[in-house]
Amino acid sequence: MLNAEALFGDLEDVGLGTSQQALATLLQQRIAPGAHGHLEDWENIIDRLPAAEGLCVNTHPVAIDISGPHLAAMEPDELRRLLLALAPWRKGPFRIQGIGIDAEWRSNLKWDRFHDKIASLEGRTILDVGCGNGYYACRMRAAGASRIVGIDPTLLFVCQFAALRKMSGISSVHVLPLRLHELPGNSAMFDSTFSMGVLYHQRNPHDHLRQLRDTLRDGGELILETLIVPGSHHEVLQPENRYARMRNVWHLPTVPSLSEWLQDAGFQDIRVIDVTRTTTDEQHSTDWMPFESLAEALLPDDPMTTIEGLPAPTRAIIACTT
Ligand SMILES: C[S@@+](CC[C@H](N)C(=O)[O-])C[C@H]1O[C@@H](n2cnc3c(N)ncnc32)[C@H](O)[C@@H]1O
Repeated sequence: MLNAEALFGDLEDVGLGTSQQALATLLQQRIAPGAHGHLEDWENIIDRLPAAEGLCVNTHPVAIDISGPHLAAMEPDELRRLLLALAPWRKGPFRIQGIGIDAEWRSNLKWDRFHDKIASLEGRTILDVGCGNGYYACRMRAAGASRIVGIDPTLLFVCQFAALRKMSGISSVHVLPLRLHELPGNSAMFDSTFSMGVLYHQRNPHDHLRQLRDTLRDGGELILETLIVPGSHHEVLQPENRYARMRNVWHLPTVPSLSEWLQDAGFQDIRVIDVTRTTTDEQHSTDWMPFESLAEALLPDDPMTTIEGLPAPTRAIIACTT
């Protein structure tokens, strides 16, 4: 059975301005027996995966590519079986000893939209809120960030990253099972904070934006990505029930409304980096995420409209500073 340090890496390196013991205690609670019905199975899988000796991640423009003799020593069918047992893989792609993990999202497309339009990540300390399985955290480390703390309450994604960390030997990247408001210690220390795909899931977007601001040092940069509705006026769509089949989407502002929310939360230099409608090329079902996806959330004869009759998912990426 894995302990907190085996799952999350060297906690001394996390550096949240809280004691290592306090953080270890909090994390241990998250993975206590009974915390999740499948946690023991996932931990057993991670246990069986071969550990890298040294760094085994290769930079690649699309996939996170992990390979090495430790992985070659395992039968490819067995490696694939273990990785599939950690499905669904929502973010990717990854390539592990030649096995392509074709995730639901082609996350490289989003990375390409923002990575050269924000402050250089070289040497920066980064918080990635709602980091999923750490796909972007790995890209940030490859782009020169010195330390990345990713937080995400979904234990499966935390376990996927623990598996990737073990096989890749990647250092100074941590994915911890925490929500933003649970971040312990003095977190106003990050050079860059990312919140991508998280804001629309928060009932109170203003609290989330203020909490994001409180994670940044003076002059730090927020990179925010969220669902919006097209429009040049101040408007906010609040879906009554589901939106694109999702149960917990609370608000879709226009870009002017979103900019005003950011201003109210204390951000300045607000720059819209990208606005893109999500297509089924970017988000789709695969062998690694076999459930329904965007295609089933749109009208069959009208990709601009969701099955609830609302505008199809469009996302904005905004950068701003404290
Ligand atoms: C739509 S996914 C986005 C993942 C990734 N950031 C991306 O852009 O592809 C949203 C993620 O945010 C996580 N999440 C939701 N509420 C959160 C919170 N309050 N703090 C941290 N993560 C949260 C969910 O578990 C989920 O993995």
